[in-house]
Amino acid sequence: MITWALLAVLLVSALLYSRWRHSYWSSRGVPTAPGSIPFLGHTLKLLNRKKYRWLIIDEMYRNHGGSLFCGLYDIHNPNLMVGDPDLVKAVLIKDFDHFADRRSFKATNPKDKVFNEMLTSATGDHWKGIRSVLSTSFTSGRMKGMFPLVEAKAEGLVDYFHRQLEKDPVIRMKESFGMYTMEVISSCAFGLETNSFEEDGIFPQKAMEMFKISPFRMAKFLLFLTVPKLAKLLNVQISHENTEFFTDVVIETMKQRKTGGKRGDFLDIMLETREDQNEKTDKKKPKYPLSDETVIASSVLFIIAGYDTTANTLGNATFLLAKHTEEQERLREELKKIIEEHGTLTYQGIMEAKYLDGCISEALRIHPPAHFTERCCTKNYQLPGTDVVIAKGDVVSIPVWSLHHDQRYWPEPEKFDPTRFFPENKDRIVSGTYLPFGLGPRNCIGKGSLALHCVGLHKKKNGKPLH
Ligand code: HEM
Ligand SMILES: *[C@@H]1O[C@H](CO)[C@@H](O)[C@H](O)[C@H]1NC(C)=O
Repeated sequence: MITWALLAVLLVSALLYSRWRHSYWSSRGVPTAPGSIPFLGHTLKLLNRKKYRWLIIDEMYRNHGGSLFCGLYDIHNPNLMVGDPDLVKAVLIKDFDHFADRRSFKATNPKDKVFNEMLTSATGDHWKGIRSVLSTSFTSGRMKGMFPLVEAKAEGLVDYFHRQLEKDPVIRMKESFGMYTMEVISSCAFGLETNSFEEDGIFPQKAMEMFKISPFRMAKFLLFLTVPKLAKLLNVQISHENTEFFTDVVIETMKQRKTGGKRGDFLDIMLETREDQNEKTDKKKPKYPLSDETVIASSVLFIIAGYDTTANTLGNATFLLAKHTEEQERLREELKKIIEEHGTLTYQGIMEAKYLDGCISEALRIHPPAHFTERCCTKNYQLPGTDVVIAKGDVVSIPVWSLHHDQRYWPEPEKFDPTRFFPENKDRIVSGTYLPFGLGPRNCIGKGSLALHCVGLHKKKNGKPLH
């Protein structure tokens, strides 16, 4: 009898506690998106495997205030969806000092050391230090230097297509681009020949596995979201097991580099940067020495962050071009002309290909591989023009896909129209509504290297990136 009463009291208290946590947004006058349930918040709704996540988010964006802002709960943690372009720019660019971090798990498992050191999850000054060192790897000069490495891999891809065509007239474009991307990244990141075009290329396989989220991994993430302290106490490992595979490869390559020659890849650049730092140590110790861990973590991260995103973009761009034969023909003509002018396809030539830029940009608009991005609030912030205060620790998420498909900003949003991105049409693009690479100081560091794969994506105009 007493135990039942006790249980009932506990349950009711727990429910009340949950309800109190879930009143966070309403008590601040922020509309809450529907679908929040006790204890779990919106997490279950967003994990629905039967519906694309960006469509679930889009519903909140369109019908429940998200196109300005609306409140969500990850378990009990407040998450503000901000969809108004001016507010998006305020959070990502103007008031970046309030939103310098992403959500970080700070896992304690020793196997997560590499994960914690990655630029994507690093926080505060630590992030700033790594970011400024790594930025030197992605200048246009560096990119140009890597062009021959990429060219060789593009030839490998064409060879692969020819070989496949002899066996089967149907080619799986996404997988093929996956192999190509893996070849390019592993070659550019640390001079590794991964033989991805062979039947049993282990690298794409290992990388692909990392994007499949098993129920077990999901449970671990949820544990970190619900009771981070317990997750740390239990030493739960958050990074995928395959991280180790890539870590070992990088360590092995670094060893070889100490004896072998240079190739001009990212690993060389990072090791050079470190030598520079070491030379300076007598006079002034560098503030953020590039440790072995950072070099390893960055190399592994480049594979993780660049592989799926790039393959997706190339896959979707070709798919759209296959469906739009007129546009495809126009692109073909443009490239033919450029090759005629330059004799062959050069980095410069690709940078001049305006229509190509439009096609890739449009593919990224319709199918942004990162359909949302987020920041963690690092100091209290009053949302401009409102009374709403976002507290330190709250998450802000930006509905990238919805902004790209909002007809107020993009007339006929489902239409594939590469000319939207022509220089003469550029002033029609509302700023803050196109962000396939995010925005501001914490945007995608690798977007320039995509210009290599995806060619011409970030052409410079008067020294400024096109978008
Ligand atoms: C089509 C290809 C790609 C897309 C669409 C893409 C998209 C993104 C997006 C949306 C973000 C978050 C930005 C933000 O929160 O504002 C990001 C971050 C990042 N990306 Fe990419 N990315 C691509 C390719 C790459 C490549 C090839 C690399 C590396 C070689 C890379 C490395 C990174 C890193 C390290 C970050 C974290 C930056 C930081 O936290 O400071 N990405 N990317
Ligand atoms: C196109 O993009 C969508 C959304 O990002 C993705 O689910 C799909 O796999 C991509 N298709 C190809 C062929 O890459």
